[in-house]
Amino acid sequence: MGFCSNGREESEIYHAQIHLYKHVYNFVSSMALKCAMELGIADAIHGHGEPMSISELASALKLHPSKLSVLHRFMRLLTHNGFFAKTTVASHEGAGGEETVYDLTPPSKLLIRSKSTCLAPIVKGALHSSSIDMWHSSNKWFTEDKELSLYESANGESFWEFLNKTTESDTLNMFHEAMAADSRMFKMALEECKHVFEGLGSLVDVGGGTGAVTSLINELFPHMKCTVFDQPQVVSNLTGSENLNFVGGDMFKSIPSADAVLLKWVLHDWNDELAVKILKNCKDAISGKGKEGKVIIVDIAIDEASDDSELTELKLNYDLVMLTMLNGKERDRNEWEKLIYDAGFSGYDITPICGFKSLIQLYP
Ligand SMILES: C[S@@+](CC[C@H](N)C(=O)[O-])C[C@H]1O[C@@H](n2cnc3c(N)ncnc32)[C@H](O)[C@@H]1O
Repeated sequence: MGFCSNGREESEIYHAQIHLYKHVYNFVSSMALKCAMELGIADAIHGHGEPMSISELASALKLHPSKLSVLHRFMRLLTHNGFFAKTTVASHEGAGGEETVYDLTPPSKLLIRSKSTCLAPIVKGALHSSSIDMWHSSNKWFTEDKELSLYESANGESFWEFLNKTTESDTLNMFHEAMAADSRMFKMALEECKHVFEGLGSLVDVGGGTGAVTSLINELFPHMKCTVFDQPQVVSNLTGSENLNFVGGDMFKSIPSADAVLLKWVLHDWNDELAVKILKNCKDAISGKGKEGKVIIVDIAIDEASDDSELTELKLNYDLVMLTMLNGKERDRNEWEKLIYDAGFSGYDITPICGFKSLIQLYP
């Protein structure tokens, strides 16, 4: 093939170049979002009650005066990426001048800390150096003949070992805050799928963390006996209420009995062999309820045929996050089906929920 021998080839190469550069510099968009979250730009605009100019923003955020043009350039990218919307208004200075002001958009509203839908802890956790630095060791990881996650290969300990080293660790708190933020978003979804929980006398939320989801279920169904089951170091200092209790244990050994088991954001942490083990223990836990018992999974289901490209990209990115951090995986329908039948369940159904997750009900 001649180099740029005709216009079509040239334009193809230029498009390819743009595509490649775009993917190389995607991290800049992620990091600019992290800066916006750390600076509290969304909180400042929200607190102000109306769109803000760059100088109003800079003064509200207490930036150094020399950073005015820096903030402008960050806002330009963040606005292009859909996090802010800009409009032109009559300048406060008067004299018929105009100025650009920035307003919140639906994605930046998810960074407002006073709102229950705040996802700032997700941005903080996902873009923390503990999730990013390991990628520099991927070359070594690919040449190793070991079942280690990239995280473990790079750091000499698994992510769980790192988290569990101390109950006071900032990273542990950061992790549980991120999980709780994700779970609070679940509130809207819970309204949609309320029927799934109706009629249950008891529920155990396996790997339920600090209980954010169980608290929502408990609010909606105050008579249901709810148990948050997680590792002892996660739940030992937590106090429940009349129908909400915390139990420490190991889901690979046994799970407290209940009418239903909830597994939200748990199975994607584990490979198929370990996921089947968890599911078998879940099946034992609901056996007292006979055919009426069920396991309710909330996790991603990859569906490249039906999802649009943006949604598929998110799910596939998540798959690599699970792979590299924990040796876990996101699964497509066939992979879920195999897991479910291997664990001895007789049937299941999958419904999309929460924008990019699915609710999967398993029947004994
Ligand atoms: C990704 S988090 C999900 C937390 C929660 N379900 C949510 O959606 O916010 C996975 C949870 O599994 C818990 N976990 C890990 N190993 C466990 C084990 N062997 N037994 C019980 N829980 C475990 C972790 O402590 C963590 O809280």
